[in-house]
Amino acid sequence: MKLLGDWLESNSRKSGSKIILAADVGGPFETRVGAAASLVSALQERIVAVKVNWHLLLPHGVLGLRELVVRCSDAGLPLIADMKLNDIGATNVEAAGTLFSNGFDAIIANPFVGYRGGMEDLLSKSREMRKGVILLVYMSHAGAREGYGLKVGGEPLYLGFARRTRRWGADGAVVSSKSPSIIREVRSILGREQVILSPGVGFQGGDGRKALTAGADYLIVGRSIVGSRDPVKAVDAMNRELGNRGS
Ligand code: XMP
Repeated sequence: MKLLGDWLESNSRKSGSKIILAADVGGPFETRVGAAASLVSALQERIVAVKVNWHLLLPHGVLGLRELVVRCSDAGLPLIADMKLNDIGATNVEAAGTLFSNGFDAIIANPFVGYRGGMEDLLSKSREMRKGVILLVYMSHAGAREGYGLKVGGEPLYLGFARRTRRWGADGAVVSSKSPSIIREVRSILGREQVILSPGVGFQGGDGRKALTAGADYLIVGRSIVGSRDPVKAVDAMNRELGNRGS
């Protein structure tokens, strides 16, 4: 199994894309996984990875996502679980182990829980299974500043989270596309091999091009694709706009 950063880079080189599909399919529960799998089939050569959130995980659970897991695996796309995991080590390990042994390749977790008895166990488990951990450093919603921007010891919490991402050896960080200056600060802290995944593009008002210019490596995009009448056209337009391929 490749390391997450290498895998994303290799997919990006092949597809010319920087887009991670947030497969946030709504509608009747029983149709969601099939719809997400079809979306992946249609977009597999135009994206670099797939991220799954509660939209699918809650109604279906990991065992119910088999069709999507196999589709991503066949397409060579890493599957990321957006759990924003934030619990004691034993519970984190249980959650991550369940996801990892059922085809997920990486998990998003919250560094707020701290290292000892929290993230340490999760990071060890993921290393042991050769899977990825991405830490939440700065979120994309309007209230993000109230938490991630809180001043602690004279500096905003997100800077401490970026330093921990580096020190703990996580695979990368999530930083909002709506805050290019924060992306720049985080990029200057992270190691070269650590990736920045940036959500909030399009529907939430973030500008993908600015986020990439500031130092983000990949963009997480959900509703602007999933809610589009023609997801293939929507992704092609985004890839073109970002200066990459798109027919
Ligand atoms: P949209 O529809 O806004 O979906 O393109 C974005 C997807 O990403 C998730 N999201 C975040 N995930 N940190 C995260 O880890 C964030 O700051 C963040 N903002 C949005 C969102 O839940 C959806 O799945």
